[in-house]
Formats: sequence, structure tokens, C-alpha cells
Amino acid sequence: FLKLIGIALIAYLLGSFPTGYLLARARGIDIFRYGSGNIGATNVWRTLGPAFGLLALAGDVGKGAVAVYLGSRAGEWPAVVAGACALAGHSWSVFLRFRGGKMIATALGVFIMLTPGAACGSLLIWAFVFALSRYVSLASIIAAGSLPLLIAAFGYSWPYILFGAVAAGVAIYRHRSNIRRLLTGTEHRFR
Ligand code: G3P
Repeated sequence: FLKLIGIALIAYLLGSFPTGYLLARARGIDIFRYGSGNIGATNVWRTLGPAFGLLALAGDVGKGAVAVYLGSRAGEWPAVVAGACALAGHSWSVFLRFRGGKMIATALGVFIMLTPGAACGSLLIWAFVFALSRYVSLASIIAAGSLPLLIAAFGYSWPYILFGAVAAGVAIYRHRSNIRRLLTGTEHRFR
């Protein structure tokens, strides 16, 4: 049990690592004050360009994947717990006074490790919606919504489906400012 607590704590700290915030800081910018105000790769790209955006993406995907990998060395459920804690860390980072991102990139890293088939399917859906609409947020929302369905379709057991559903619910909830802008036609289209 102590081991599980240790894994949860390490995964939370890993998830808390504020990749986008630090990259922007390195350029003298407080990312909370630019664009959508989000610390995620999309807003880092929007504000600082593709190189920084891709670095933020890699960092956020990577920390989710590494957290699950570390958990998986202790077993199947520790891997799920580690994934959940990494997502919590990303969204409520201890280093950012419990502020954080919208979970999409970190969730990609987490679910690529936990449920690879479903994660790849969800990523394809993301790419399809993005290519059609040029809205990152819309693609993220629809990809998140599809994830628990794909996890079920791939035959994973119910704890994975439940985790996917809760993660998707939180991610979509964290896109509520984007949803408002999408509905009023004022969402930023990716150029
Ligand atoms: O993953 C975040 C993305 O879906 C939306 O980012 O900066 O447009 O709110 P942003």
C-alpha cells in the first residue's frame, strides 16, 4: 500500500511539471496572460510558435507516458492510478498554485500506454476533426468524448472504461471557455 502511495505521489509530481509554463517563462512570457491563457501546447504554439509548441506537446505527452510506465512496473492497477495522478497533476499543478492545463496531451501519453488501440483511434478522430474544422479545441473535445467508447469497443475491462470516461468528462469540462467561444463563433481557428 505504501508503494502505491509513493507511485501516486511521484505520478502527481510528474504530471504537475508545467512544461508549457516553463517554456514560456524561458522566453520571458507569462503564458496565463496570452492567447487562451492555457498552459497547453496549443497556446504555447499560438504564442511562441511551432518549435515551442512541439516541445510543450512532447513534454506533456511524455510525462503522462512516463508516469504510467513507472506505475506499470508495480502492476496493472498501479499503472492506472499513476495515469490518474499524472492527469490530476497536469490539471491542478502543485507548482502553479493548483492551476493547470486542459489534459489533452497528457491524457494522450497516459492512454497510449494504458489502452494503445483506443488512444490511437481517438488520435485519428482528433486529426480528422482538426483537419476539417481547424479548431484544436473542437477536435480535443470530440476526441475526448470518443475515448471511453473506443476503450469499450476494444474490449478493455470496466475500470479502464470508467477511467477513460472520467478523464474525458474532466477534460471536456476544462474546455468550457472554448465551448462558449465555439457556440458564439469566436473560437480561435488554427492557422
Ligand atoms: O488541449 C487544449 C486545446 O484543446 C485547446 O487549447 O489554448 O485553444 O484553449 P486552447
